[in-house]
Amino acid sequence: MEKILVIDDAQDMLYSFRRNLESPERQVLTAASLVEGIETFRREKPDVTVCDIRLGGESGLDGLTQLRQLDPKAMVILMTAYGTSQTAIEAMKRGAFDYILKPFDVPKVKALIDSALKAARDMRQVVSYEPLLRSEDHTEGIVGRSEAMQTVFKRIGQVAHSDATVLLTGESGTGKELVARAIYHHSPRAGKVFMAINCAAIPEQLLESELFGHERGAFTGATQQRIGKFEQCDGGTLFLDEIGDMPLLTQSKILRLLQNGEFQRVGGSQTLRADVRVIAATNKPLEQLVSEKQFREDLYYRLNVVRVHLPPLRERREDIPVLTDYFLQRLREAGKTRIRTVAPDTLSALENHTWPGNVRELENVVHRAAIMAKGDYVLPTDLPAEVLRPAAPKPAEPAAATPSAPAAATPESAVNEAARVLFENARRQSQLKIIPWVERELIRRALTETNGNQVQAAKLLGITRATLRKRIEKFGIKKELNVS
Ligand SMILES: Nc1ncnc2c1ncn2[C@@H]1O[C@H](COP(=O)(O)OP(=O)(O)OP(=O)(O)O)[C@@H](O)[C@H]1O
Ligand SMILES: [Mg+2]
Repeated sequence: MEKILVIDDAQDMLYSFRRNLESPERQVLTAASLVEGIETFRREKPDVTVCDIRLGGESGLDGLTQLRQLDPKAMVILMTAYGTSQTAIEAMKRGAFDYILKPFDVPKVKALIDSALKAARDMRQVVSYEPLLRSEDHTEGIVGRSEAMQTVFKRIGQVAHSDATVLLTGESGTGKELVARAIYHHSPRAGKVFMAINCAAIPEQLLESELFGHERGAFTGATQQRIGKFEQCDGGTLFLDEIGDMPLLTQSKILRLLQNGEFQRVGGSQTLRADVRVIAATNKPLEQLVSEKQFREDLYYRLNVVRVHLPPLRERREDIPVLTDYFLQRLREAGKTRIRTVAPDTLSALENHTWPGNVRELENVVHRAAIMAKGDYVLPTDLPAEVLRPAAPKPAEPAAATPSAPAAATPESAVNEAARVLFENARRQSQLKIIPWVERELIRRALTETNGNQVQAAKLLGITRATLRKRIEKFGIKKELNVS
């Protein structure tokens, strides 16, 4: 059960939070004063605390400081009326997760609380990676008995203790985020904050400000100063996911930060310092991006010093049975199934599939199959067709002799995956407008790939040329790409 504590001296506000947020999985605790709030916080250890800045005679800012003294990882969201937003910015510098301006929009507040709860879960749920982990105590684990995974475990052990920047590579779904969290949990910074940011899911223009913050007036729409993730995470760990998608200019700022801990907010002239451990991950071939000048060579070398590579699942098939057991066990613990094991034929089918989506795909397949299954075992008929279909052997060589080539994901699964990343991020960034943004990016990409040829671009996009022209106009892409 997740717990949210709301501290506000206005009863109607407390009522509204309870009504809007309470659910079978979520308990909303309320306190009408700071003293009461602190007491409840100590007793209940909520996952997220929402606190008003003005609490009768008391200050929510002091409240924030006290809460963070009790727990340096406390996830605190402050509420403030428009006029006092400067105080809210001060709060961010003191480690608040975010702030909400009153009067507020319920869906936005819900989205913000969801992302705070996710951040809190990432911090609280220890990811263990010992070969034999006990998941009865509800820890998450990295499972694997293959030699390749044993090497990964050793590497985690070696790198966790230091403050070194770590680069995690591997295909989508191989467990990079899980490893990032394991490194954090086993590091000297485990008692401090951990935050994640997905560079691929944030529009280019916003990413830099998201990371480094911006000054008021730095660009159109920057009506207030904003504190970036590096400042917010001071003392802690920042997970830069999909770093291969980071624009070149932002890359140079990151390099500077990694080299001497310095940065500037967008539009700012003051040099600031942040003590943040960076864990970066990507599923893109960085070497290739470097040769294509899409990724800075110096940053690549800086990151590549400490690298942990997650091999694709098809190269460590001996992990499939243990992973299957582990996912079934977790489902049983969550009360979603009573099934203990899979039939031998089912296991062979699982072992023979190529798993383009890697462990994530296996997890989803086991999940669906366990729910479908009627009897005591998961039968082959409970598996989706693509898993049952034997991989077509390549004409020249027998399939079993060599490790199979990376199977290309189907267009459906690629779109599915892209949508997943987008929504995950939209939930974190409640201001993101997915459709217009995606549309704009697709059009930009089509035009870049066709060197600005609108006839070809329209064909690629599956729209008429007239529609394309209208969109170019609407999104102001013309100037940017120099298309005529
Ligand atoms: N070795 C493992 N043991 C247990 N669970 C795993 C393992 N590897 C991955 N998973 C699970 O598979 C899913 C995908 O893992 P994760 O999100 O870490 O992948 P990723 O490499 O970050 O993928 P992407 O590049 O798509 O972001 C998660 O639910 C994770 O818990
Ligand atoms: Mg990931």
